[in-house]
Amino acid sequence: MIRNPDRPLRSRRSVLYVPASNKKAMAKLAALSCDAVIFDLEDAVAPGDKVAAREALRGHFSDTEATTHERIIRINPLSGEWGAEDFLAARACRPDAILLPKVNKHGDITDAEDALAETDAPNSIRLWAMIETPAGLLNSGSIAEMAGNPHSRLDCFVAGTNDLAKETGARIAPGRSVFVPWLMQIVAAARAVGIDALDGVWNDYRDSEGFASECTEAAAMGFDGKTLIHPSQIESANRAFSPSHEEIANARAIRAAFALVENRNKGVISLDGKMVERLHLDVAEKLLARHTTIGDAQ
Ligand code: COA
Ligand code: MG
Repeated sequence: MIRNPDRPLRSRRSVLYVPASNKKAMAKLAALSCDAVIFDLEDAVAPGDKVAAREALRGHFSDTEATTHERIIRINPLSGEWGAEDFLAARACRPDAILLPKVNKHGDITDAEDALAETDAPNSIRLWAMIETPAGLLNSGSIAEMAGNPHSRLDCFVAGTNDLAKETGARIAPGRSVFVPWLMQIVAAARAVGIDALDGVWNDYRDSEGFASECTEAAAMGFDGKTLIHPSQIESANRAFSPSHEEIANARAIRAAFALVENRNKGVISLDGKMVERLHLDVAEKLLARHTTIGDAQ
């Protein structure tokens, strides 16, 4: 799939939520090595703190220069009590993206695209969507299709596992066996249109071993990264979603093998006793591009 130039490859291994009401935590973000930060105006901010959180967010964005990490603002649903005010506050901050919670249908994306167009928002302000309701899951294919429009700002799906558990009654347990079909559906819907997919959060942030194992599992599922709730989770996520030395060496070997004169016109070759097709060359090139992007971001 040819990448949309408005959607450059970005490293999104570690994406940290921070409540927009927590000024102290926001002040220390520059020192963290996460790839992206989601400033939350939604569930992490109590109803009585919404106004103060918007103010703190405006203050933070006006006080900080452009950062090495991407900055995303999660607003409340546009159709709800706080959505319109959140949207205006987020728009004024000119973040890299606005994250829409509880996206149920493709019309929710259209509404946000229209709201951004009405305020002449630059194309650099993108949209991310949380898939975290039963309707959102069932409609994830048609929601993702919105990104097929060349003018669409939709760049990324974020799995909302806590809300999915709440809405369905399914329980989150180590290994997440009951969630796997839904998580893979989110990955497939995102991949069908070439956008990114991020896994949900691990709540028990003191259990670093359990978290590391869930990161490994999420990387194997094809997710680009994991959403995080605590700075202590950043390093593990960065490690799990970076290609290993072995994967990089293997990808380089595949590239070198297909570059040999005798293999240039071949569809399939043998490398170290294994069948390697041109599709594996595509996979290798993608992995090497990802490796370069991660290096550039550090
Ligand atoms: N982003 C940035 N910094 C954070 C942070 C976060 N998400 N979570 C904690 N920190 C900072 C704290 O401010 C504290 O800094 P300090 O040492 O300068 O005081 C340090 O990391 C250690 O924090 P700790 O005491 O271990 O945690 P806590 O009890 O202060 O907070 C949570 C625990 C879960 C309340 C907090 O991590 C949090 O709010 N996480 C994000 C929740 C969220 O946004 N949820 C919505 C999406 S699911
Ligand atoms: Mg949620």
